[in-house]
Amino acid sequence: MPVQTDRLANHLEIRELGLLFGGVRAIDNASFEALPGEVLGLIGPNGAGKTSVFNCITGFYRPTHGTIRLGGRAIEGMRPHGISRLGIRRTFQNIRLFNDLTVLHNIAAGAYATGGSQAALLEAVGQVCAELGLDRQLLLQPATSLAYGLQRRVELARALVADPRVLLVDEPGAGLNAQEKGLICSLLRDVVRSRQIAVVLIEHDLGMIARACDRVVVLDHGTVLAQGTPQQVRNDPSVIAAYIGA
Ligand SMILES: Nc1ncnc2c1ncn2[C@@H]1O[C@H](COP(=O)(O)OP(=O)(O)O)[C@@H](O)[C@H]1O
Ligand SMILES: [Mg+2]
Repeated sequence: MPVQTDRLANHLEIRELGLLFGGVRAIDNASFEALPGEVLGLIGPNGAGKTSVFNCITGFYRPTHGTIRLGGRAIEGMRPHGISRLGIRRTFQNIRLFNDLTVLHNIAAGAYATGGSQAALLEAVGQVCAELGLDRQLLLQPATSLAYGLQRRVELARALVADPRVLLVDEPGAGLNAQEKGLICSLLRDVVRSRQIAVVLIEHDLGMIARACDRVVVLDHGTVLAQGTPQQVRNDPSVIAAYIGA
């Protein structure tokens, strides 16, 4: 299991983030941080700007305003591959595995360009599979032939194989049954506890949020409406209004 010696390196800080699409303020002056060793929930109605926040953090979108710091270092405006190499990894709202590749190749792709020997790469793939409960017998199967819940875990494995400092997970519960959702929650808990990385979880299923998250940030129309424990935000009148309004 990877042990991060410098926990502060795994700290994600977002200050006054703004993103404009033409006249649309997708993100409007949003500030929050994700701490090492916690799962931070990012919730809000459809169109609130959640995925856009991930796209800014990972360099897919260039923020119009604000700063994003990883371990104290400003990363906003950097290219996606540079940010990935610094240790911010993600999964996608719609699973994006390489169709024609095996599970092994899909997971190994997450460690591409990190250097190291082939033996070390195979070792890392084996470790992350054990961590996520993926049977090694799956490794030579085409990734997209697997059941949906397993594909979600393969995507998590690809994100984790190169020992990220921050893991961003976008709606991992979509399309999963209750048992698979519970499994994802407990895997995320295990990952933060053993790796002491920061995990940010976007999820519509508030049961998953309550189960997986230490703290929650609520976005609405691109702004941070509330933050606190899952219990605190669930009882916040402005949060209730935003959800009913949606
Ligand atoms: N590439 C884009 N071009 C134009 N508008 C976008 C783009 N991506 C997101 N948006 C807009 O930004 C807002 C936030 O979208 P998104 O971040 O996907 O919300 P969420 O993930 O919370 O549902 C929406 O109004 C959406 O239409
Ligand atoms: Mg989204």
